[in-house]
Amino acid sequence: MQAFQYWLKTEICFGAGSEAKTAELVRKHGGTRILVVYGGGSCVRSGLLDRICRQLQEEGLSYETFGGVQPNPRLAHAETGVQKALAMDADLILAVGGGSVIDTAKAIAHGKANPETPLWAFWTRERELERSLPVGVVLTIPAAGSETSDSAVLTNEALLSKRGLSTDFNRPAFAVLDPCLAATLPPYQAACGVTDILMHTLDRYFNPVPDNETSDAMAEALLRVVLANGKRVVDDPSDTHAMGEIMWCGSLSHNGLTGLGGKKDFAVHQLGHALSAKYDVAHGASLSAVWEAWADAVAGADGYARFARFGRNVWDIREADDETAARTAIARQVQYFRELGVPVSLPELGFGKLDDEALDHLTDLCSYGNTRTIGSFRVLTAADMRAIYAAANGDH
Ligand code: NZQ
Ligand code: ZN
Repeated sequence: MQAFQYWLKTEICFGAGSEAKTAELVRKHGGTRILVVYGGGSCVRSGLLDRICRQLQEEGLSYETFGGVQPNPRLAHAETGVQKALAMDADLILAVGGGSVIDTAKAIAHGKANPETPLWAFWTRERELERSLPVGVVLTIPAAGSETSDSAVLTNEALLSKRGLSTDFNRPAFAVLDPCLAATLPPYQAACGVTDILMHTLDRYFNPVPDNETSDAMAEALLRVVLANGKRVVDDPSDTHAMGEIMWCGSLSHNGLTGLGGKKDFAVHQLGHALSAKYDVAHGASLSAVWEAWADAVAGADGYARFARFGRNVWDIREADDETAARTAIARQVQYFRELGVPVSLPELGFGKLDDEALDHLTDLCSYGNTRTIGSFRVLTAADMRAIYAAANGDH
């Protein structure tokens, strides 16, 4: 186990009906002038936005709303939000939605607290973030885990660059996890969310640090619970019990807990971010589309033991031989993605088979123009990334 430092400051308010505590939490965390951020309208249609605004009014808090956040949220839209937050002198940003809305709210909080700095400079690490505003969350889709994570992901559309920023300033002050709010999810969105939750855990579990028993055991338990309840929420998002388990696992899978003492891999996420930047595909789908190709590329030789452990402890595979257990585990995981209804190859993302030029471009985006490697379980060079994209494309 490696040394670590861990600070989870987010107050969690979980359970059916917890939505009603939002205004109280806003006040408790110092909000008096609130910018309420939301997406393309699902929370307008469900009546949630109205109910939240009414609560703020009744609590005597002033607020303005800022909608229109798109999935794979754009830098330019967040910059518009910063201007709105500055104009009203907001002191708390309240996100009502999923990862895209929460990450936009985080970006607005950073921009409001640092109006002299171009927002993207924090994402490129040219500038260090040293202050921000509190962000509150009312979660409507279990998926990204942004409601407790230290990360925020934005797309700079001018550069076709999708990047995450990790800092404790990204940890929300509070998160309302009310499983009833996800009951309106379309099956594909629910499936993408379940995939992302699995992947946040897998991208930590597959790492090179041995003897990390507590984190590994927590990760395996979390994976089993998500696999057991994932298909239930896709079939029936109003199943409050299953949705509650998935929602809580979504937060736990990306607040850092299951990776403590390890060395995050996150290669699959990096491969997926390039796909979303170029083709604007849903985040969860960008991950399932490359997972099998990634697993095949990294499992060989000394990697079999880890995949075999995953197979035995998560999938209950009884094969004694590590290579057979590893191969069976990968096949079972891919079959699960198929049953969820998410893509398991690049062509299944909906843009057909990619040509060599497109694969080169994806590799360039993922490797930041051949200036970085990704992953820790296996360190992947630009050539490795290219080979994984090609395999996911069905090339041999
Ligand atoms: O925009 P609206 O109309 O609200 O519709 C959204 C959107 O179309 C819809 N939706 C959300 N809740 C709903 C609902 N529809 C009906 N009923 C509801 N209750 O779902 C669609 C997707 O929303 P989005 O917020 O994009 O989904 P998700 O939570 O999966 O977030 C994805 C974004 O988060 C980033 C991803 O890269 C992507 O940009 N991530 C953020 C992370 C973080 N900050 O820690 C980590 C993740 O790995 C991820 O990278
Ligand atoms: Zn993710």
